[in-house]
Amino acid sequence: MFKHAIVRKPGENFAEGLTTSDLGTPDYKMMMDQHNAYVITLQSLGLEVHILQPLAQYPDAYFVEDVAVVTPEIAVITNPGARERAGEVRHIEPILSSFRSIASIESPGTLDGGDVMQAGDHFYIGVSERTNEEGAKQLGQILNRYGYQWETVSVSGGLHLKSAVSYVGRNTLLISESLANLRPFANFEKILVDADETYAANSLLVNERIIMPDGFPRTREKLRTVGFNIIELETSEMRKMDGGLSCMSLRF
Ligand code: GLY
Repeated sequence: MFKHAIVRKPGENFAEGLTTSDLGTPDYKMMMDQHNAYVITLQSLGLEVHILQPLAQYPDAYFVEDVAVVTPEIAVITNPGARERAGEVRHIEPILSSFRSIASIESPGTLDGGDVMQAGDHFYIGVSERTNEEGAKQLGQILNRYGYQWETVSVSGGLHLKSAVSYVGRNTLLISESLANLRPFANFEKILVDADETYAANSLLVNERIIMPDGFPRTREKLRTVGFNIIELETSEMRKMDGGLSCMSLRF
C-alpha cells in the first residue's frame, strides 16, 4: 500500500512544456482543476500528498514521475532524456532525501521515470526517446542491490513505456496492442486497450483502485468486467502536454 505521494502544481506557463500533441492549447484553470481532483483522489485513497510549488523555468516539472524512481529502499534520481528537463532533478532531491537514501543516474545514461514499470519485484525499463540503454543499465544495477530483477523493453512509439502499458495488479497488464505480444510480457494476463483508446493504457494502480482517464468506455468496461474497482478522472489538459495520470505523482 502506498502511504505518500509527491506532486508538483503546474505553473501558469505549463503550456510552454514539451509536447507532440495536436489537441490544442491547454487551459490553465482547467489544468489546475484536473490537478486538484487528482490530489483529492490520492488523498481519498489514504495517501499523504506532499505538494511542491511550480518551477517557472521548468514548465514540465509537474510531471514528477519522470525525475525519480522510488522503491521502499531507495530513491533513484533520474537523468531526464530531454535536455529541457534535466535541471528538474535537483528540485526533487530535497523532499525525497527526507524519505529515502538517494542514488542517481549519471550521464551518459538517461532515464525518465515514465519508462519504468514495476510489477512486484520485477522492473520493466523502456528504452525510448528519453531513456537509453546505459540509463536502463544503471537503474537495473541499483535495483539489483535490493533484490529486484529488471529487463529492458524497446519502446518504438509514444513517449514512454507507460504511455502504452500499466501494471494493474493481479498479474495483469493494461496494454496497447503494439506491446501485447512482446516476450517480456508473455506471462501476464492482459487487458487489451483498443487502438483508438491507447491513451487509457496509462492508468494508475493506487491502493487497490485503478485511476483511469475519463472518456474511454471500452477500456473501462473491460476493467470492470474482470472486477477492477475504477475511479475516472478528467485528463484533457495534461493530455495536450503528452502527460498522463501516472506522470503527475511519485507514489511510495
Ligand atoms: N511534456 C512531457 C514531456 O515531454 O516530458
